[in-house]
Amino acid sequence: MGQPSKKFKMRNKIVAGNWKMNTTPAEGVELAIALKALMTEVPSDVELVIAPPFTHLDAVSKAIAGSAIALSSQDCAAETAGAYTGEIAASMITPFGAKYVILGHSERREYYGETSATLNNKMAQVYANGLIPIYCIGEKLDERESGKHFDIVKAQIEEVVYNLTPEQFDAVVIAYEPVWAIGTGKTASADQAQEIHAYIREVLAAKFGDKAAKTPILYGGSCKPSNAQEIFSKADVDGGLIGGAALVAADFVGIAKSF
Ligand code: PGA
Repeated sequence: MGQPSKKFKMRNKIVAGNWKMNTTPAEGVELAIALKALMTEVPSDVELVIAPPFTHLDAVSKAIAGSAIALSSQDCAAETAGAYTGEIAASMITPFGAKYVILGHSERREYYGETSATLNNKMAQVYANGLIPIYCIGEKLDERESGKHFDIVKAQIEEVVYNLTPEQFDAVVIAYEPVWAIGTGKTASADQAQEIHAYIREVLAAKFGDKAAKTPILYGGSCKPSNAQEIFSKADVDGGLIGGAALVAADFVGIAKSF
């Protein structure tokens, strides 16, 4: 297929901050207020998204009210409601004005046994509640070293994203995060990122055709202000999913300014 280029500005640019299990509610509000104050520095065509812990959604949504910052949760339940102790339904997230839900983060897959079957159910919940999934994929170190990374991301897409309707696919955001780069200080090189992002787009296009040219594909894994510019300069990299650096307002905004 023809290589879609960023020059045509076909795709939304997104920089999303995954706070993971960090910050007290008060610290979360403080971070949100600091981000709001820095929004004048964020280019108007870059969407800034923050994903605080569930317990912070209410207070953080109030703190960012009136700004262009979008809110996300880090996960949601695979079920609608009922006897699922400890779970949070997608319908419990929407009242806070959340727009996105991160799904299938490698930490969820690795530590909480999330499989494609679980993720298909979570996807259904996300769409049923009018939310947008940020669907995470990516290979582990041994899979990269044995050259299986292309097959891994292909399977992660085929087993979940291929089950979306064309209309649902229009909204999906993909985050490619090589597990070996998450929180390790190691990043994929910009060329490695471009290579696999272009491949991911090809796999999406094999099922959804030209629509894949519009799908935002974010890079994640030790992304910081010092390396974001090179990675974001690549044609098929449409932004980032940021962990550690999203906890420091100036760093997160610095990344958002890197396009
Ligand atoms: P990191 O995390 O930026 O701390 O590597 C990225 C992520 O897991 O989303």
